[in-house]
Amino acid sequence: MKLAILSRAPRCYSTQRLRAAATARGHDVKVLDTLRFGIDLTGDEPDLTFRGKRLSTYDAVLPRIGNSITYFGTAVVRQFEQMDVYTPNSSYGITNSRDKLRATQILSRHKIVMPATTFVRNRADLVPAIERVGGAPVVIKLLEGTQGIGVILAPDIKVAEAIIETLHSTKQNVLIQRFVKESKGRDIRALVVGDRVVAAMRRVAQGDEFRSNVHRGGSVEPVALDPAFEAAAVKSAQIMGLRVAGVDMLEGNDGPLVMEVNSSPGLEGIETATKLDVAGAIIDYIDNQVAFPEIDVRQRLTVSTGYGVAEIVVHAGSDMVGKKLGDSGLDERDINVLALHRGTQVIPNPRNKTVLEGEDRLLCFGKLEEMRSMIPLRKKRQRVKRLPKTPLPADD
Ligand SMILES: Nc1ncnc2c1ncn2[C@@H]1O[C@H](COP(=O)(O)OP(=O)(O)O)[C@@H](O)[C@H]1O
Ligand SMILES: [Mg+2]
Repeated sequence: MKLAILSRAPRCYSTQRLRAAATARGHDVKVLDTLRFGIDLTGDEPDLTFRGKRLSTYDAVLPRIGNSITYFGTAVVRQFEQMDVYTPNSSYGITNSRDKLRATQILSRHKIVMPATTFVRNRADLVPAIERVGGAPVVIKLLEGTQGIGVILAPDIKVAEAIIETLHSTKQNVLIQRFVKESKGRDIRALVVGDRVVAAMRRVAQGDEFRSNVHRGGSVEPVALDPAFEAAAVKSAQIMGLRVAGVDMLEGNDGPLVMEVNSSPGLEGIETATKLDVAGAIIDYIDNQVAFPEIDVRQRLTVSTGYGVAEIVVHAGSDMVGKKLGDSGLDERDINVLALHRGTQVIPNPRNKTVLEGEDRLLCFGKLEEMRSMIPLRKKRQRVKRLPKTPLPADD
């Protein structure tokens, strides 16, 4: 395949290893400086220029987008997506993972366990928010920090309040998070490629530091992952739309607590700690998937008027419970079930003989009118009324 690695650091360990792994496997690989692309929307089709000239055809890209160029970098990746070029990490995945709040919001929807987190803006809501996550000591995080910078441990509520107010006054948004004391300055980094963890390490913070980032002096050691950690890492990466990701987890009393999903994980620490060829695993995965460029399913499936995607919940009392999917009447109503979600289990392409249970969630594609009747009623949209003659109450 012809592969472009998007990177501003051709000499750094990770880029060099990825390039070497691709070359060793006989691929045609180029490292291209992300900031030298031009997004070209002048012609009939989306196109890209590189160093001012039209870019030649590539089969796949591997984005290694630094934190300081997220906006431009994800725009370039998005353009490759519009051109049907395969990328293991989607542009929306990179964007969403860069913002710790966004990532937390998305992951919590899918029952990924994370340290208790809150986000507030008004001063009066600060103390209740800190108390909601278990009180002091409490962790405060800048939304877009990296390498441990912008992660603060506040020893008591007064200090926490002062820090947050100071940050708010300089227009910085922060997360308030439970301090997971039992993890004792250690965390787990799992390197996910596709649907498996290819390497994992434990990072241990230096001295009385609580942040285990290698950039903060943390040391690394290989670790054999517990299946619960492996499952949490893979699921988190998949939900974020990242097929190559470094998932950071704390070891909580009840199992893994996912902290963040990194879209451009460094390879030096993990390859050195585990002696595993992570770069090779990434290149092999891309080679294997290159025929499946990213498709925005909702976008593509809603092009036919009147058709769309919806989730239908089989309520416990519904007459669908106990029926086979083939006898549920959905097919006759032109509704296709793409996947069945049952608790944490997912059954893709469920068969007609699958028996429905209460609280099953069916991801469907079909006629919106037909599906509407099966979705619990929301309040009808009101017609827009005329503004009253006296729109505001009279002053006394
Ligand atoms: N809630 C927490 N409880 C305990 N330690 C934490 C918590 N959040 C972060 N840490 C420590 O701080 C480090 C950096 O936090 P993280 O959210 O990963 O930010 P960054 O993006 O800067 O790496 C983590 O690797 C972990 O060691
Ligand atoms: Mg981290």
